[in-house]
Amino acid sequence: MQTSPPILGTEHLEKTFAGGDAEATVAAVRGVNLSVGRGEFVAVTGASGSGKSTLLHMLGGITRPTAGRVMLEGVDLATLDDDALAAIRRRRIGFVFQRYNLLPELSLLENVSLPLALDGVTPARCETAARAALEAVGMAHRASHRPDELSGGEQQRGAIARALVTDPAVVLADEPTGALDSANSSRVVELLQRLVAERQQTVLLVTHDPAVAAAAGRVVRMRDGQVEFDSAGTSRP
Ligand SMILES: Nc1ncnc2c1ncn2[C@@H]1O[C@H](COP(=O)(O)OP(=O)(O)O)[C@@H](O)[C@H]1O
Ligand SMILES: [Mg+2]
Repeated sequence: MQTSPPILGTEHLEKTFAGGDAEATVAAVRGVNLSVGRGEFVAVTGASGSGKSTLLHMLGGITRPTAGRVMLEGVDLATLDDDALAAIRRRRIGFVFQRYNLLPELSLLENVSLPLALDGVTPARCETAARAALEAVGMAHRASHRPDELSGGEQQRGAIARALVTDPAVVLADEPTGALDSANSSRVVELLQRLVAERQQTVLLVTHDPAVAAAAGRVVRMRDGQVEFDSAGTSRP
């Protein structure tokens, strides 16, 4: 069905956390095969401890797998050294976390500029791109505000703008609505849906909330480190 090559894929992906002894060893992700196309909105669900965050961290190059591969835009992340991996993380992946992680000393505009500024982009270009990203999430009117002057929902929309500012291949969001009330949660989800539809943005979102998962085009359910169900009908590339 998929005509273009997947933007993000895994092959037999595994992560084991070594403990002090064999009993303390945790197989957090156990052989995940996933293939995600451009413009897909995928919800990753499953009980607490089923390996969702560990999977997301490997997809985003935060954690290196114990075995198997992550392919992002045709590149096997395992072939990259730490510097090259950090560059991919900065440029091609947008992260959104439950706790918005905006820096309190900086204005929203400065927060959103940060991924570009850290990458050596000139201040003028940073500002142009950050304003455009804030525009895209409906937060341009709050550009000069500090995070503590914003509601949780507004902060999360700002964090999404920060994730988008580099025009990433994929946005990875780990329970982005977990700290929001239902009205703000709906706004964030509608925003992500719109980004997927209008920009062909690829989004993978971890959630416990069935209402949030229902908004995605595809649901992948994890259980004990494995894909238990994939509404795309197959978990293989
Ligand atoms: N850094 C770590 N060290 C040891 N065990 C970990 C670590 N991160 C996660 N785990 C374990 O791996 C399993 C999966 O965790 P996680 O991916 O956070 O699940 P989820 O996000 O679905 O709640 C859990 O048993 C958890 O305790
Ligand atoms: Mg988690």
